[in-house]
Amino acid sequence: MEEERFITSTKNLTESEVENTLRPTSMDEYVGQEKIKKNLNIYIKAAKNRGDALDHVLLYGPPGLGKTTLSHIIANELGTNIKITSGPAIEKVADLASILSNMQRNEVLFIDEIHRLSRSVEEVLYPAMEDFALDIILGKGPGARTMRINVEPFTLIGATTKAGMLTGPLRDRFGVVCRLEMYTTAELAKIITRSANILGTPIEEDACLELAKRSRGTPRIANRLLRRIRDFAEVAGSDRITNEICKQALEILEVDDLGLDFTDRVVLETIIDKFHGGPVGLNTLSAATGEDANTIEDVYEPYLLQLGFVARTPRGRVALPNAYKHLGRKFSAKNQEYLKLFIESDDDDEQK
Ligand SMILES: Nc1ncnc2c1ncn2[C@@H]1O[C@H](COP(=O)(O)OP(=O)(O)O)[C@@H](O)[C@H]1O
Ligand SMILES: [Mg+2]
Repeated sequence: MEEERFITSTKNLTESEVENTLRPTSMDEYVGQEKIKKNLNIYIKAAKNRGDALDHVLLYGPPGLGKTTLSHIIANELGTNIKITSGPAIEKVADLASILSNMQRNEVLFIDEIHRLSRSVEEVLYPAMEDFALDIILGKGPGARTMRINVEPFTLIGATTKAGMLTGPLRDRFGVVCRLEMYTTAELAKIITRSANILGTPIEEDACLELAKRSRGTPRIANRLLRRIRDFAEVAGSDRITNEICKQALEILEVDDLGLDFTDRVVLETIIDKFHGGPVGLNTLSAATGEDANTIEDVYEPYLLQLGFVARTPRGRVALPNAYKHLGRKFSAKNQEYLKLFIESDDDDEQK
């Protein structure tokens, strides 16, 4: 069931509550993403000194890397309020107009999943971002007129897992564009230690490192696994998480040394066994595995790409030698020949 899975893109309600308790509230507590923090600190300071709104900020990267958390921190550090909404929630132009005309001076508007804004809403957002003005159309047909209404200066923070799906004009209107990186093991260990203390079940150092290694570079997954393992510790009557408990729990949860779960393995096995290593298109892969195409692309694939287990080619996804090795499959000379046909001139469009 959904409950048993760590690598989902969605959160359930109780999880949101727990996430809130684990969420850092200041830049100092926010682990990693050093370059982003350094730059943001400078911009925040400058904006505050001038008494201006911070430039609009776009945060992008896979789910669970800390986009929502960082947005709250930015508002905190600015000393302003944050209003929260999402692309799909703003259905009509009037919804956006009402949000914007209620913003106070220099407040932050956070739009999650900003790539899902409708085109008509997006068009109203442009002048709002640029000139802090709304162009409202009055009437219909040939007699229609536009009226310009000013709004208070504000900072838009947009978050998305799919920067590639943003339209050019929208992207260009963000002064600060940050791509969140996956976290190192050391950074994740720091996050886990902090969370374990907040949850009141300390974790031993070697257990913490083990868990960090298996968290796919993602704080949300680290925290989620930690909470599960804490349950195991409780049942075992232990007041702390030992390496022994950690290993046993991860085995029961079917999370392997690299943090791959059941579905990752199904995806890899499908590419290798059913499609001779690929290339296989996203939709075909989705049909063959029974996993949602979006989930594969946003949630599973980023980590498999990072591990060098799969590559994207113009013809679809291919499995790379490391994936064969991890699954205990033989990567033959024939596989090598075949693979070379597809990955020669391939450059990931999102890199750098
Ligand atoms: N840099 C970080 N330092 C500490 N904890 C983090 C960090 N980034 C994320 N987290 C934790 O991971 C959880 C998920 O982060 P979130 O901001 O909701 O991710 P996103 O919005 O990118 O999906 C948060 O509850 C928070 O506790
Ligand atoms: Mg979020």
